[in-house]
Amino acid sequence: MRIQTYLTFILLLMHQNFKMSRPQCYSCIKTSCNCSRQNLKEVPPAPSKLVTELDLSFNRLEMIMDADFITYGSLKSLIMSNNKIKTIEEQAFVPLTPLEKLDLSSNELETLSAGWFKNLSSLQSLNLLGNKYETLGPSHLFHPLKKLRALYFGGSYFQSVRKTDFSGLSCLEQLFFDGTNLHDYAEGCFRQIGPISHVTLGLNGLFGRNQALVKVILSDVVHPNTTLTLTDTQFTTAHQMFLLNVAVKAGTTSVILKNVIMTAEACFALLLLLSPSGVTMLALEDVKFIHSVTVFWYIPDMKHVNVVFLKNIEVPQFYSFPALLFLLPLLRVMKKMSLINSMLFAIPCKSSSSMSKLEYMDISDNIFSDIALSEMMCDGKGVLWNLQTINVSRNHLLSINSQLFTKLAKLRNIDMSGNVFQSMPETCHWPPSLRYLNLSSTHLTKVTSCLPESLHILDLSNNFLTVFTIKLPFLTELYISGNKISSFPHGGLYPSLTSLSIQDNNLHTFSSNNLNDFNNLMSLKAASNTYVCSCDFVAFMTSDVRKHRVKIGDEFRMYICDSPFAMRGTSVVDVRLSVFECHTALAFSLLCSAILAVFLLFVILCHKFSVLWYLKMTWAWVRAKRKPKLVKAELAYDAFVSYSEMDSGWVEAHLVPELEQSEPPLRLCLHKRDFVPGGWILDNIMDGIEKSYKTLFILSQHFVRSEWCKYELDYTHFRLFDQNDDTVVLILLEPIDKKTIPKKFCQLRRVMNSRTYLEWPDDDNEIPRFWHSLKTAINRPVTINDGVNVFNTVW
Ligand SMILES: *[C@@H]1O[C@H](CO)[C@@H](O)[C@H](O)[C@H]1NC(C)=O
Ligand SMILES: *[C@@H]1O[C@H](CO)[C@@H](O)[C@H](O)[C@H]1NC(C)=O
Ligand SMILES: *[C@@H]1O[C@H](CO)[C@@H](O)[C@H](O)[C@H]1NC(C)=O
Ligand SMILES: *[C@@H]1O[C@H](CO)[C@@H](O)[C@H](O)[C@H]1NC(C)=O
Ligand SMILES: *[C@@H]1O[C@H](CO)[C@@H](O)[C@H](O)[C@H]1NC(C)=O
Repeated sequence: MRIQTYLTFILLLMHQNFKMSRPQCYSCIKTSCNCSRQNLKEVPPAPSKLVTELDLSFNRLEMIMDADFITYGSLKSLIMSNNKIKTIEEQAFVPLTPLEKLDLSSNELETLSAGWFKNLSSLQSLNLLGNKYETLGPSHLFHPLKKLRALYFGGSYFQSVRKTDFSGLSCLEQLFFDGTNLHDYAEGCFRQIGPISHVTLGLNGLFGRNQALVKVILSDVVHPNTTLTLTDTQFTTAHQMFLLNVAVKAGTTSVILKNVIMTAEACFALLLLLSPSGVTMLALEDVKFIHSVTVFWYIPDMKHVNVVFLKNIEVPQFYSFPALLFLLPLLRVMKKMSLINSMLFAIPCKSSSSMSKLEYMDISDNIFSDIALSEMMCDGKGVLWNLQTINVSRNHLLSINSQLFTKLAKLRNIDMSGNVFQSMPETCHWPPSLRYLNLSSTHLTKVTSCLPESLHILDLSNNFLTVFTIKLPFLTELYISGNKISSFPHGGLYPSLTSLSIQDNNLHTFSSNNLNDFNNLMSLKAASNTYVCSCDFVAFMTSDVRKHRVKIGDEFRMYICDSPFAMRGTSVVDVRLSVFECHTALAFSLLCSAILAVFLLFVILCHKFSVLWYLKMTWAWVRAKRKPKLVKAELAYDAFVSYSEMDSGWVEAHLVPELEQSEPPLRLCLHKRDFVPGGWILDNIMDGIEKSYKTLFILSQHFVRSEWCKYELDYTHFRLFDQNDDTVVLILLEPIDKKTIPKKFCQLRRVMNSRTYLEWPDDDNEIPRFWHSLKTAINRPVTINDGVNVFNTVW
């Protein structure tokens, strides 16, 4: 029992470890994971249940386990091509019910099992090419795949196709079969699938080895509407080519030969085969013509072929090859001809003259020069009368020669992109029917009125233009990306424009005004310019533009700031400008108001707490300290009287007469009388106190309410403290409850606490005694008298 528990535990641990050591794939974008070329040996766990696409191609997977895809319940596309998969466990794909595409090509599977597919009822595309299996499994491999539309199977190991292999397949649209080494084919196998619209066969070995088998297969796959592609095949003899007769007879309309090597003989055979047939389209792609004993046959005109598509044609010994002339019967009937990337350097006027039905001509990616083009167009004298579209893109043209086309009344589209023109003539003579002109990547530095007014679509991308100001009233699409244009085109010049591409230029900004200039503009692509991310531009791009009639057609992310420097490289949608940067005037005025407010507050506080007074006092005190002290005898007054205005009655009626008319008379300093008129009151107070021998405080309820008295008291106190002398005489006119003295008179409270004071008696008999005491207190030199309260308290 115990051992069992341990074992379970260890197993659990191992399981955990196994889980943890599984390789991860970190390259997921949204629900798509591309884990291609990551050296994976195992299927990584799903980062989320919602993954719909998983690419595991070019890894080192060898075995697919039952549990590998348990977490991939939403997968729609699974690509495991180019691994080393040998084994797939029976239940491995069972969780993948929604799977639509499965690619197992280029692996090492030796057997296929019907069990893998039993739950893949949504599968539409299955690729099993390039493995090591020899047959399609025991039987009914594809039976569960009711929705399969594209099937790729076979490979160099593949041996036989049997009767039951395709049972259950009914709506196949594409079949790709690599049967180059096929030995057995049960007749009727492909036929039972029903008509397939695109069939691609790679039967190279068979064409040489077992031509009967080729015939059987061809006659099984071909239906009137089938496009037949033969790939990776070498046709050396006419006889091999004649095998296609089966297909042609069955009514195939499109024949494509891809990645094929062909002798001239086989080519003649092909043309001979096609000429009386119902085939309408012939395409040769990646074809190499090799020289052989040339047999010239007379080839009658093609009956139906009107689309010829030739691409990447190689003629290594072109000098000994019968040129294009043998194609002449073809040329006469063609409506659409493409001859792309085939080192074509000339089509003689004589040949082009016979292409009287040609409507579409694509000779892009060749080596046509100006002279060759001129020759092909018979110097503009009139040829290819039915031409509607000509593509001479990426040739070796050096000048724009509109005269060659002037007479072609049906010509609508000219693609001259990818040539090196550098400049265009001042005036040109295009056919009036011209609607589309592609001059992209042609090194143009300037545009002129050579551009015809009739244009609807104009592509001038990837040139060196700095301005674009040609009026084109009918233009609906304009492509001027990849130039050096620094100002937005003027809408008035392009009243019909619906779509404008001006990416990757030197634009600094644009605004809704620019867009509104265009009456019909619907779509704008203007990313990757050198934008100045001003407040207006950022605001416009982050909000207004989304509501605008003109829609931004490319990614907002790609609108990147070039300046200001701090924002270089940032996407406009990520830029956050501060209020300060965007509303400088407002911010500045706010700041000024704030400073003003602080200043005002300061002034008010100063006023409230008499800061000025205290400063002044300090200053006076400092001054007093530095000045030689006034000799006491030289003082102008005997006493400075500090009193409240409300007590002036008592002062004038009693104090002044009593003291100033006594013997000897005392000189009093009264603010009413002795202050210098016009002088600052604080100065006067300090001056008065300074010049007086004593300071008399007439204390009363009024006194404690008076502002000035407080200052006087403060200053005196200040002096007292400083000089430590007895200059204060307190007279209490009426009793004051110390508790009622306001806080700011704390000084007074302290003085009253620490000093004795003279009280104005209620009793008249006491008055003479009061005066006496007072005079004694004021008189200099001081004589201490009994009864008079003297300031002997030590501070
Ligand atoms: C995954 O990336 C490779 C290049 O690393 C690319 O060739 C392939 O197409 C990508 N697969 C898918 C499904 O996009
Ligand atoms: C097989 O597919 C069915 C739906 O078609 C689904 O209900 C079932 O769960 C799948 N089996 C497994 C083992 O996931
Ligand atoms: C071929 O296709 C056309 C339409 O694409 C259809 O009308 C016609 O019936 C098809 N012919 C056959 C034999 O399937
Ligand atoms: C002309 O050929 C080029 C290169 O093959 C191609 O990109 C372009 O789309 C073609 N133009 C037209 C109008 O078909
Ligand atoms: C112009 O030609 C270039 C290169 O062939 C091509 O990529 C582009 O799509 C063409 N422009 C238009 C508007 O068709």
